[in-house]
Amino acid sequence: MPFINRLIGGLLKPKKQILGSDIAGRIEAVGKEVTRFQSGDEVYGDLSGAWGGFAEYVCAREGFLALKPAGMTFAEAAAIPQAAMLAVQGLIDKGMIRQGQRVLINGAGGGVGTFAVQLAKLYGAEVTGVDSAGKLDLLRTLGFDHVIDYAKEDFTRSGQQYDLILDVKTDRSPFAYARALNPGGIYATVGGSMVRLLQALVLRPLIALNGKRKIRIVGLKQNKDLAYMNELFEAGKIKPVIDRLYRLEELPEAMRRFGEASHQGKVVISIEPDHAESR
Ligand SMILES: NC(=O)c1ccc[n+]([C@@H]2O[C@H](COP(=O)([O-])OP(=O)(O)OC[C@H]3O[C@@H](n4cnc5c(N)ncnc54)[C@H](OP(=O)(O)O)[C@@H]3O)[C@@H](O)[C@H]2O)c1
Repeated sequence: MPFINRLIGGLLKPKKQILGSDIAGRIEAVGKEVTRFQSGDEVYGDLSGAWGGFAEYVCAREGFLALKPAGMTFAEAAAIPQAAMLAVQGLIDKGMIRQGQRVLINGAGGGVGTFAVQLAKLYGAEVTGVDSAGKLDLLRTLGFDHVIDYAKEDFTRSGQQYDLILDVKTDRSPFAYARALNPGGIYATVGGSMVRLLQALVLRPLIALNGKRKIRIVGLKQNKDLAYMNELFEAGKIKPVIDRLYRLEELPEAMRRFGEASHQGKVVISIEPDHAESR
């Protein structure tokens, strides 16, 4: 889903038999042109496009990988790449977050949101998180100043306005989001309904006419900010939120939980039977 993915991923059956994008592990062997790594190095990164991550061994281009800090577990490292890059690129690159802004994160309890709130707090932002009722306690412990249960309240109709909105679930018209922005504010979406994303693309010049409100779409630059994440992690400023570790043979159950979005933070598959290496 959506159906358009079949044009890239295979019309009748998946072209790639082994999925899995975010990986962490120890290098077993390197090709002769590899200069940045050697066998034994502990690395992590996002292999989306190449895939193959749900496995004991995977082959990766060196440009997709970064060294894992010694204090970071493999599970923490595997939780970082795609979600954290979307949070960094949504809030900082597209959202241009500034000190003390009012920020709202829609879909706050998943992978992107749980990184985004930690980043926004580094900027001294006042952060509101929107998610389902069962995730609001987690949001409070992560540092959200305000939380909204999306089943009870529509943040685009509350009369509140924000300087920056980061959305992982774009499912409303761009005019609704513009209503929740202060003049000059930025709405940055990382994903959601295809129709709504297309509307955002087409209607954003019109929205900019009203109070210079900006609608921006994040195109993932995979692995771009892993060095920044290492820096924040080592300084104790960011910590991945892990819902649960699953064993490789539990992958179908893990994917089901992820598909239902009942997870909080990230779901991680551990290759070690007792998870010992992952912790
Ligand atoms: N831009 C790019 O290049 C790019 C690349 C890769 C991925 N993506 C996108 O990045 C996003 C992944 O985000 P993620 O990993 O954080 O997802 P996630 O872990 O699935 O989290 C999404 C959260 O949103 C909540 N939610 C569901 N419906 C909602 C609603 N109507 N209003 C508010 N919250 C709602 C879910 O909780 P409940 O289900 O409990 O409500 C869940 O906690 C996806 O949209 C994906 O398509 C974009």
